Amino acid sequence: MPEKLIIDTDPGHDDAFAILLALASPEFEVLGLTTVAGNVPLAVTTANARRVVELAGRPEVRVFAGAERPLLRAPMHAADIHGDSGIDGYDWPVPARPHEAEHALDFMIRTLETAAPASISFLVLGPETNIALLLRRAPHLADRIRRIVVMGGGFFEGGNYAPAAEFNILVDPEAAAIVFAAGIELTAMPIDCTNRTLTPPSWIGDFRALGTPIGAACAGMMEFFQANGNRKYGTATRPLHDALAMAWMIWSELFAGRQCNVEIETNSELTRGATVVDWWYRTDRPRNCLWIRDCTDPADLYRRMFERIAGL
Ligand code: RIB
Ligand code: CA
Repeated sequence: MPEKLIIDTDPGHDDAFAILLALASPEFEVLGLTTVAGNVPLAVTTANARRVVELAGRPEVRVFAGAERPLLRAPMHAADIHGDSGIDGYDWPVPARPHEAEHALDFMIRTLETAAPASISFLVLGPETNIALLLRRAPHLADRIRRIVVMGGGFFEGGNYAPAAEFNILVDPEAAAIVFAAGIELTAMPIDCTNRTLTPPSWIGDFRALGTPIGAACAGMMEFFQANGNRKYGTATRPLHDALAMAWMIWSELFAGRQCNVEIETNSELTRGATVVDWWYRTDRPRNCLWIRDCTDPADLYRRMFERIAGL
């Protein structure tokens, strides 16, 4: 039976690749996409989620809009990385269908209420606001959740949007603290792993050579994401952070990590959003998170990802 999956997302170039990979993977049944303000404002992330499912030829996949701002703090966006559209680099058509009228939280709760124990998984690709709100509003439904996989955090690598914080956690540290303390099976795909797992130089040409809308969109997105990233990070190619979190769900054998205690800094102005990883077990705090540190074969990983997305 395919694993039932809800993808919470703020598309975002790397979110788009993660969604395409999920929809191309028979191991998973995507029950719906829930959107959150993150890379760009909520209205844009929501329209982008519709654009990506329609590009994938899966217009029936429902998109539910969620939180338009973090729990406590002012919204923070990353148009400097993703452009104003959030998925710059391709001439996206206007979505053919609207997103659902039902709020993301109501969709999540309704889904969990009728679910068997430990049967619904969550892939969280943006600030964790929606998941935190779910856990606060329906704690009695936490036992219906099979596992949570988040793209977020950084420890050995430092931060990418503050010196000590990765973007998804920095935007809503209080939400991340709630999710990391929930006691639900949790895996984090941090920039410790993603920043060292870059796309192959041939990718853009390989996607363009497909001669399909998927190929054109993926090539265009990578061209923008790569050029922009090159200016900021100096790397020739870029890590598809969110797609690597989805890839771990499919091919965990290509990754290495450690079950650790991970806590979120929410008070310090200097290090707010830091993911503090007890990698060497210096405390007796609960080992609440599988912290992924390495991809053991990036070339094989991205080859497998390309083949699945190209086959959509
Ligand atoms: O730091 C990378 C993360 O922040 C990715 O999920 C990217 O899409 C942005 O949301
Ligand atoms: Ca994202």
